[in-house]
Amino acid sequence: MTSGPEQQAEVGIIGGSGIYALDALTDVRRVRVATPYGDPSGELVLGELSGTRVAFVPRHGEGHHILPSRIPARANIHALKSLGVRQILAVSAVGSLREDYAPGDLVVPDQLVDRTRVDRGSTFFDEDVVVHVAFAEPYCGRLRQSLVEAAGRATTAKVHESGTYCCMEGPQFSTRAESELHRRLGFDLIGMTAIPEAKLAREAELCYASLCLVTDYDCWFDGHDDVTAHAVVEVMRRNSEAAKATLTTLLAKQQPDPDCACQNVLASSINTSLENLPA
Ligand code: ADE
Repeated sequence: MTSGPEQQAEVGIIGGSGIYALDALTDVRRVRVATPYGDPSGELVLGELSGTRVAFVPRHGEGHHILPSRIPARANIHALKSLGVRQILAVSAVGSLREDYAPGDLVVPDQLVDRTRVDRGSTFFDEDVVVHVAFAEPYCGRLRQSLVEAAGRATTAKVHESGTYCCMEGPQFSTRAESELHRRLGFDLIGMTAIPEAKLAREAELCYASLCLVTDYDCWFDGHDDVTAHAVVEVMRRNSEAAKATLTTLLAKQQPDPDCACQNVLASSINTSLENLPA
């Protein structure tokens, strides 16, 4: 991989269901990035958005051919970092577990619950070193605030400033009993992709925040249709302009903050060479 300025980016954008390209990008070039974790979800698209160099990757691959459990998240995050990215904006479709978060609304979650079941490759540190990074606040507070403000300015959609995102394994949607359980547990949103992306971004010392588009009421809400893949994609297609406008508005104002704690998290983590552990 070459790394001239045109092969570099400050901000990574990870697109979800229904967002497979960013047409507002200028000065576009596509790059294949090899990583120690295999290939990313596809070629990365480098370009400029609102004067900021960005690198875009659709996590399900172009045309949506990668299952949530098989998204090569380590390769995606590694590839973005290798291009110089310091902050990641992740867009995703979510189901709502509460009445006031309606289909068409935008949510910037502040908490995350991992209910995945298979090993999705959720750490970069699975050989030779043991690293425990702080993850109490899984999203970058500063980037979240920027997303909330930008969404408020750029769209007429209702914007919710917080929410607890529950990441389930999928690919099947929840049963009604699971959906009701998730509501009783106090989760607000249900999706399949924030894990391990958020964990890996933290380990890679990248700021990470997510813009969630509510596409459905999952299957708990009497009188509303149960979620289907078709409904998710259709609502995303109708609302993807709100997500894109939010990103464009955010990048026009956003200044990278080299002092953000997300970018120095390993300094305060336990980071032990296995050789140094007691026998
Ligand atoms: N993504 C969008 N809607 C969803 C739902 N109801 N469950 C899981 N993931 C989703």
